[in-house]
Amino acid sequence: MSAMRAFFLIAVVGAHRCLSYRRDSSCRTQPGDPGFPSDALWDQLNEQVEGRLIPVVPSAEACKEVGCTPSQWHSGLYEADVPGSMNSYNWEQDYTSVPPSLCLYNYNGTACGQGRVPLYAINASSAADIQAGVNFASNHSLRVAIKSSGHDYLGRSTQKNSLLLWTQFLKDISFTDSFTVEELNLGSAVTVGSGVGLQALYDACKAQGKMVVGGSAATVSAGGGYVQGAGHSAFSPLLGLAADNALQFEVVIADGTLVTANGDSHPDLFWALRGGGAGSWGVVTAVTFRTYSTFNVTSHAADVTMASPDQAGAVLKAHATHIFDWDDVHAGQYFYLYNSPAPNITMTLWTLFPNTSAEDAIAKMAPFFNDARALGAIVSDERASTGLANDIIQRSGSDDTTGANVILGSRLIPASTYQSNQSLIGETYLALLEQGVQGILGHLVAGGKVSDDANPFSAIHPKWRTAKTHIIITQSWDDSTSPAQVEQLKEDLTNKHIPVLVAMTGETDSGSYSNEGDVREPAFQETFYGPNYQKLLSIKAAYDPNDLFIVGAGVGSERWDAEGLCRL
Ligand SMILES: Cc1cc2nc3c(=O)[nH]c(=O)nc-3n(C[C@H](O)[C@H](O)[C@H](O)COP(=O)(O)OP(=O)(O)OC[C@H]3O[C@@H](n4cnc5c(N)ncnc54)[C@H](O)[C@@H]3O)c2cc1C
Ligand SMILES: *[C@@H]1O[C@H](CO)[C@@H](O)[C@H](O)[C@H]1NC(C)=O
Ligand SMILES: *[C@@H]1O[C@H](CO)[C@@H](O)[C@H](O)[C@H]1NC(C)=O
Ligand SMILES: *[C@@H]1O[C@H](CO)[C@@H](O)[C@H](O)[C@H]1NC(C)=O
Ligand SMILES: *[C@@H]1O[C@H](CO)[C@@H](O)[C@H](O)[C@H]1NC(C)=O
Ligand SMILES: *[C@@H]1O[C@H](CO)[C@@H](O)[C@H](O)[C@H]1NC(C)=O
Ligand SMILES: *[C@@H]1O[C@H](CO)[C@@H](O)[C@H](O)[C@H]1NC(C)=O
Ligand SMILES: *[C@@H]1O[C@H](CO)[C@@H](O)[C@H](O)[C@H]1NC(C)=O
Repeated sequence: MSAMRAFFLIAVVGAHRCLSYRRDSSCRTQPGDPGFPSDALWDQLNEQVEGRLIPVVPSAEACKEVGCTPSQWHSGLYEADVPGSMNSYNWEQDYTSVPPSLCLYNYNGTACGQGRVPLYAINASSAADIQAGVNFASNHSLRVAIKSSGHDYLGRSTQKNSLLLWTQFLKDISFTDSFTVEELNLGSAVTVGSGVGLQALYDACKAQGKMVVGGSAATVSAGGGYVQGAGHSAFSPLLGLAADNALQFEVVIADGTLVTANGDSHPDLFWALRGGGAGSWGVVTAVTFRTYSTFNVTSHAADVTMASPDQAGAVLKAHATHIFDWDDVHAGQYFYLYNSPAPNITMTLWTLFPNTSAEDAIAKMAPFFNDARALGAIVSDERASTGLANDIIQRSGSDDTTGANVILGSRLIPASTYQSNQSLIGETYLALLEQGVQGILGHLVAGGKVSDDANPFSAIHPKWRTAKTHIIITQSWDDSTSPAQVEQLKEDLTNKHIPVLVAMTGETDSGSYSNEGDVREPAFQETFYGPNYQKLLSIKAAYDPNDLFIVGAGVGSERWDAEGLCRL
């Protein structure tokens, strides 16, 4: 370990030692505890991983150290390579410790606290690096974090006082025309390291004339948390969810062994990894996905401007009546509603039409736009262009925006509600707007192949199979917001806004997407996992009996405090 690194570690650990903790064996070992590894032991670990053990600082501190530019601060590509960085960087903050431990980008010279940022990371370049980290963490009962891109909206990839197992640099990509599991030929497939971002994967696929099911983001890791949560795509109505298309996982489990999970080997673990929730099963090193011959897609976009919440409610009711208009071509759609620019409300629509000409796509959108205009809304900026799926799926080019404070809540809205009660959908939008909800992000990413595949071998919440859309509400704030105000915003999301969104489902047992939801969901077991929860618990007990891999609202997390540091 270099002298500078050693100095840094002593500084970080030393600072923590000033606090005196009183904890028993039901807690993870933290700095200051008798069982916390000595510097010499950390040095040994660093040697074992050939110098890849690194200190971690909050992203605002990392930015300050190197003088990063505002555009770098907001770049997913830049931040993906910063070990302490979370895209929703509010998750780096500990707002509730006394005093709060914050490290803000606009911090005007205030001190930078470590917050919820891990103490050290293993910048893994192989499964062996991860195995060393898992064994070390088990031996010393350390809190573990697993991160690939840091995109997580629930803060699950950063953990207070933890050792981070960082998979961002597992970047291998390899193709085959016949992927076999026990002599069963599953066809054309690609195997990706768990650090491969979606854009890199689409580019690699393009060179092969192929495509995979993936989301509309550049830096989300296909083989990280995305697929473990389910993984939706504008191409899901055509090709299913990403987890439906996952054929095999390579994963380091809690006892330190590297196992292959597929339909034949460790099938229970394979079942859990396909949709049973990110970060709860082990450290994934690689995932194999089915590939398809690539295809042309028309990208259609337009804005709809509405003058009042009432008008917006009426337009969204009309949208609900048209939601099945695009099914025959298996289109996917993002329909995002923003409570701005005041007093107006703006709906941006972006629809991806596989194998459809621009002319046909425009014709397919016209009935909804005609109804919206009849209700007094203004439809503007309509545009359509056709290109390869690999290029078209990138909405905002080759990067993603990061560095904001944002939390989400969401629900899967059943197709049956769209069929039977469009008024309920319009009224719920109105109620959310009247509450002042900032953004209501609609995703038409279900139905079609997602429903047709209704009996695959996976832990995906069954509500996905009967859903038509996935609707997210957002809550965000700027750095001048006090910890008390942040807590109030979180409270409002969980207890005021989400209950209204629930009404839109027309169900009492509604479901939410675990990758884009509220970590404080009061009945998270039912909401994120539905009837699969008990089976997931038993698989967790078999593969991770000591709960090494605990994340917020994840399987088994009810046994731990909110930070996963002490058993309840
Ligand atoms: C800009 C943006 C666009 C998005 N678009 C979509 C979309 O179109 N469709 C969609 O379904 N979702 C989308 N998401 C949500 C996305 O699925 C989640 O943020 C997901 O958790 C990202 O996984 P990650 O590994 O990249 O992120 P990370 O924050 O690194 O990890 C997320 C979770 O996965 C775990 N994890 C990460 N790597 C590993 C690993 N190697 N082994 C085991 N566990 C691991 C972490 O512990 C954490 O629990 C989007 C998110 C963003 C920020
Ligand atoms: C992590 O390792 C990769 C090589 O695998 C290297 O390029 C990168 O700079 C390292 N990052 C840090 C923060 O050490
Ligand atoms: C963990 O403990 C076991 C048994 O005591 C030991 O063999 C192993 O080397 C330790 N591993 C690490 C990474 O500390
Ligand atoms: C996509 O469209 C272009 C232009 O019409 C055509 O040349 C190309 O072959 C099409 N590609 C596929 C995969 O259909
Ligand atoms: C609101 O929409 C109206 C049209 O309905 C438009 O004339 C006006 O400029 C918009 N206001 C803002 C602030 O964008
Ligand atoms: C697109 O159309 C081509 C030619 O008709 C067909 O071979 C291909 O399967 C279609 N692809 C999709 C994704 O529908
Ligand atoms: C539709 O929702 C409304 C509430 O907006 C409710 O009163 C009504 O009973 C529902 N109708 C049906 C058919 O479910
Ligand atoms: C930082 O300080 C400047 C000058 O005092 C002030 O204008 C600004 O609002 C402060 N920023 C924050 C986030 O507090």
